Amino acid sequence: MKTILLSVILPALASAAATNGKFTALSFNVAGLPSILQSNDVNGTKTDNANLIGTYFSEYGYDIINMQEDFNYHAYIYETDTHAYRTATSGGAAFGSGLNTISNYNWVDFTRVKWNICSDASSADCLTPKGFTFMRWNPADGVYVDFYNLHADAGIEDEDEAARNSNLQQVADYIDTWSTGNAVVVMGDTNSRYTRAKDTGIRVFKSQNSLADTWVDLEKDGVYPTAGADALVCENPTSVQTCETVDKVLYRGSSVVSLEADSFVYDSAKFTNTDPEYLGDILSDHNPILVNFTWSLSSSLRQSQFSGGPHGTWFNDLPSIPSSPAASVITFSGAERLDAVALELKDGTSFSHGGTGGTKVSLTLASGEYWTETKLCTGKHNKHTRNFYIKATTSTGKTLEAGTSTDDCQTFTAPDGFAVVGFMGQDADEIDQLALVYAAY
Ligand SMILES: *[C@@H]1O[C@H](CO)[C@@H](O)[C@H](O)[C@H]1NC(C)=O
Ligand SMILES: *[C@@H]1O[C@H](CO)[C@@H](O)[C@H](O)[C@H]1NC(C)=O
Repeated sequence: MKTILLSVILPALASAAATNGKFTALSFNVAGLPSILQSNDVNGTKTDNANLIGTYFSEYGYDIINMQEDFNYHAYIYETDTHAYRTATSGGAAFGSGLNTISNYNWVDFTRVKWNICSDASSADCLTPKGFTFMRWNPADGVYVDFYNLHADAGIEDEDEAARNSNLQQVADYIDTWSTGNAVVVMGDTNSRYTRAKDTGIRVFKSQNSLADTWVDLEKDGVYPTAGADALVCENPTSVQTCETVDKVLYRGSSVVSLEADSFVYDSAKFTNTDPEYLGDILSDHNPILVNFTWSLSSSLRQSQFSGGPHGTWFNDLPSIPSSPAASVITFSGAERLDAVALELKDGTSFSHGGTGGTKVSLTLASGEYWTETKLCTGKHNKHTRNFYIKATTSTGKTLEAGTSTDDCQTFTAPDGFAVVGFMGQDADEIDQLALVYAAY
């Protein structure tokens, strides 16, 4: 009897999209500069240590791991790591940024960005093109978190401080442009301490981007250390969580997905040497940081998956959606491809994205009629993937279409009780990438 009941219930549970979940995120400077340049005062060979770091990554299976200084021993980490999704290296020292991400979930829009400024005042920061990476990480259907991984300029000479503050400002400005309306996690080696008076850049994430610092919130009761105070130096490995390292994890949620950091821990004790000769010794001169997050979807706003390619400029209607939004007029423009999408809401708010080309078509929704289903087809134009076709279907079965259908199509259905009220994605003179914004009605 029990067995029958379970087999009836389980398929239903499995098909319902999750509205909350958890993920683990690790930030780790893996000390992968060539050993002849930098020993990092770590025992054992760098190749063996990298192999072991990869083994630990597999064993713990953290959902997303952002590495810094993953330069010349990258292949040894990937040899033993088994994460399903991994960035391709940008090269060893002198060529790459040392930034790589491994994950249990896929992402879109992965981008590497180089710092505008570097300084060799106290260490060879300009030796290799350091910077940050960006991706829209997709741990569940309709759940995206913009993840940034960074490695800022080192040193404490005035030029180093200027370069580092510029680096962090560069990330903050990038967030304002590319993550408008989105949940964000910034992690990495900021080379900054709140206690260092000249390290002003690290505080920009809170003042400009409204990001919370996981360490400040969870280990310092929300109180930022005073600029100019004595350093709160960490041992390595450390079992104390209130000391400060230059490695940080900061975050914010969005009106679609709220994020909560549940725990912060220097995970160093779980990354020690197993070689009998170096038993218990550290594998890197940095403590890794593990933050456990919970995400949960809003009961009033949701989004679809993205369709299209990583081109054009980011737009997001979420910050402009009024309360109790209802779509009134849908307008599409298309010809060979999808040129533009627009939506007018009952309160007069209107959204429009894309270019001016194509033939314009419109559909006015009756009262009580909702746009609930969307078919999007993509193709390549000048080697770039973009949207070629859209078809909206309403709750009463009316349709509106534009562009040219292809063999590469997806249909997005609004969750029960939700309808399309806006868009997010990337555009130029056409719709490169598109996701639907849904509101509960
Ligand atoms: C390296 O090994 C020596 C000798 O065992 C030990 O004293 C030292 O603490 C080790 N250094 C690190 C960073 O683990
Ligand atoms: C974080 O999550 C991992 C994986 O589920 C777990 O092993 C670890 O105990 C959690 N850490 C804390 C501090 O709760």
